Amino acid sequence: MEVAGAGFLNFRLRVDAIQKALAGANRGEHLFFGRAEDPQTIVLDFSSPNVAKPMHVGHIRSTILGDCLARAHRLLGHRVITDNHIGDWGTQFGMLLFGWKTLLDKVALDRDPIAELERVYKAVNAKCDESRPDYDAATHETARAELVKLQGGDPGNIAIWREMIRLSQLQFDTIYGRLGVKFDHVLGESFYNSRLQAVVDELMARGIARESEGAKCVFSDGALPPKEDPFLIHRDGEWQPNPQLIQKRDGGFNYATTDLATLAYRLETWTPSEIIYVTDGRQQLHFQQVFSTFRRWHPERANTVKLVHVWFGSILGDNGKPLKTRSGENVKLAELLDEAEERAFKIVTEKSVNLPEPQRREIARVVGVGAVKYADLLPNRQTDYVFSWDKMLALNGNTAPYLQYAYARIQSILRKAGETSNLEHQTSNTQLEAPEELALARHLLNFGLVIEALAAEKRPNYLCNYLYELSSLFTRFYENCPVLKSEETTRTSRLTLCDLVARVIRQGLEILGIEVLDQM
Ligand code: ARG
Repeated sequence: MEVAGAGFLNFRLRVDAIQKALAGANRGEHLFFGRAEDPQTIVLDFSSPNVAKPMHVGHIRSTILGDCLARAHRLLGHRVITDNHIGDWGTQFGMLLFGWKTLLDKVALDRDPIAELERVYKAVNAKCDESRPDYDAATHETARAELVKLQGGDPGNIAIWREMIRLSQLQFDTIYGRLGVKFDHVLGESFYNSRLQAVVDELMARGIARESEGAKCVFSDGALPPKEDPFLIHRDGEWQPNPQLIQKRDGGFNYATTDLATLAYRLETWTPSEIIYVTDGRQQLHFQQVFSTFRRWHPERANTVKLVHVWFGSILGDNGKPLKTRSGENVKLAELLDEAEERAFKIVTEKSVNLPEPQRREIARVVGVGAVKYADLLPNRQTDYVFSWDKMLALNGNTAPYLQYAYARIQSILRKAGETSNLEHQTSNTQLEAPEELALARHLLNFGLVIEALAAEKRPNYLCNYLYELSSLFTRFYENCPVLKSEETTRTSRLTLCDLVARVIRQGLEILGIEVLDQM
């Protein structure tokens, strides 16, 4: 240890301490990270797409980010409960039911159910929107009547509604399968229907909500300075009320009402110490209001839980505007993944024509999906990022293929070494001498700190940058320190180091939800 100028202390790790840590990892005692001392129960609400609509790139960020947070917290030993809060209730079902009964094309429904439901929805919606030229009061009235019937439990409408959910869930499951994402629960919005009236009644009785223009709303209680108060908004030079709607004039409930009921249910059911919601940044005010209302409603219970909104920015196209297809539609997630795999397949084929096609397809799948995920996790989540195929699929640069390639390259070194010596008998001792070896080994030791920082701040980009640095340090090491051609002791030591780097890359990518390949 030494004093290094004003206010700084430098600590140097002794080489034998580093070697000891590496030996422990090599014996399988740890992989440079530890388990949490007091494991927490954490509820993670992410993905949460809407029924009868295709998942689009906006849902990709929530799904990928949320899954990564689940993986990181689990690895650290926490009890993670993932809950997909799908949008399976709301006014859109009035229109969907009417469309289902009058416009549905059964053949199209069999071919691509979500596309057909979307078509039907759009056609009816255009007639129910008073601001549109083809507004049709009769259609609007009928759609509303279908909704009332559904809400009243009409068996015919309930059956159709269930079928729409089933068809949507099939599509969601296909995509989750491709992304390797699983949920413990799928308690959609409709699950909370029977609890909503009680939420409103309690908030009214407690004076937290009151009537305003026929609707029921939560207003500011004045406890916070205006700048931090989500129930106030600065407009026309003054602070004005920005109420949270919990029951509409027609008796219908709002998105916020469902979230309040959901929060209460989760606390009762799982007693978590933290609940994490992963959505885009436009929902910030919504969650600030939900958390604040909940604290007023259940102050003691609110004290036992940390409520966190993990929000993210948009994915932009080349033009700097939110990513759309050429015809101005939302880009569909399934098509995006298809294109990623197709592009990766072309690249793999260019580079290794002689691999059998099934193997090239498998490489393309792992690389393509990995590239999309990594591109999403690498930027600071709160900034918008520009979607670029070329960038995310590049073999050099901070990309998934680069890291996957680094891993595959190490596997190839280990394979070659295995042909001439028995790796099982690798000694657990490394002898770190060259500066490149030391730099690489020291970086391995930081793995645990990075996972913990990722979990604490919900920022996967920390891990992306760590792995990129690790791979760069590995390249520098490999260029300067011969492995296979060294004499026996050095060779064994360096092979051990290679193996540990590969294991950390694989574990790190696994936290990011990205697969590796032994050969690319
Ligand atoms: N279904 C919503 C959407 O697509 C996201 C739901 C997020 N979770 C929640 N508890 N509000 O925007």
